[in-house]
Amino acid sequence: MQDIVSKAISHGVYVITVRSKEKINGMTAAWVSQVSLQPLMLMVSIAPARYTHAMIKESGYFAINALSEDQKDIAKHFGFKSGRKTDKFKGLSYFDAPNGSPVLDGALAFFECRVADAFKAGDHTLFVGEVITARLLKSDKKPLIFHWEDYF
Ligand SMILES: Cc1cc2nc3c(=O)[nH]c(=O)nc-3n(C[C@H](O)[C@H](O)[C@H](O)COP(=O)(O)O)c2cc1C
Repeated sequence: MQDIVSKAISHGVYVITVRSKEKINGMTAAWVSQVSLQPLMLMVSIAPARYTHAMIKESGYFAINALSEDQKDIAKHFGFKSGRKTDKFKGLSYFDAPNGSPVLDGALAFFECRVADAFKAGDHTLFVGEVITARLLKSDKKPLIFHWEDYF
C-alpha cells in the first residue's frame, strides 16, 4: 500500500530546524501539512528516533524551512545523517528566527512555530505548531516537490 501512497499523495520537501539550549539541528521532512487557518497551524510528522524529535520536545519551538526546487542537495544533506553525531549546519549560512530556530538563508520560506500539541500517530509523532513568524525569502522560486525515487 505504501507504494500507492507514494504515487498518489503529494508532499513538498522541508527542513525542520530547532534550537535547544546552545545546540542547533535540522532534519528533512516531507510529511508536513497545514492543519488550521485561524490560528494558522502547521503540522510535521517526526519519528521518535530522530534527534530533532528530542530537541523539539525540549525546546517547544521549531521552524519549517520550505525548500525550493533547486535544493534537492540540501534535502539529502539534512535527511541522511543525524545531528547527534554531526553539525549539519557547518559551512551553511543561516540566521536566527525570533525564537532562536535557525533558518537556512537559501530556503524559499520559513515558518517558526510554537508547539501547540503533540500526538502519537503509529510510529511517528505529529507536532502541531502555531505559526508565530513566517517569511517568504525567495519570491521568484518554486517549491521542491517530493518524489520518493529522488531519495530512496
Ligand atoms: C526526502 C526525505 C524526507 C524525509 N521525511 C521525513 C519525515 O517526514 N519524518 C521523519 O521523521 N523523517 C523524515 N526523513 C528522515 C530524516 O530526515 C532523517 O532520519 C534525519 O537524518 C534525522 O536527523 P536527526 O537525527 O538529526 O533529527 C526524511 C528524509 C528524507 C531524505
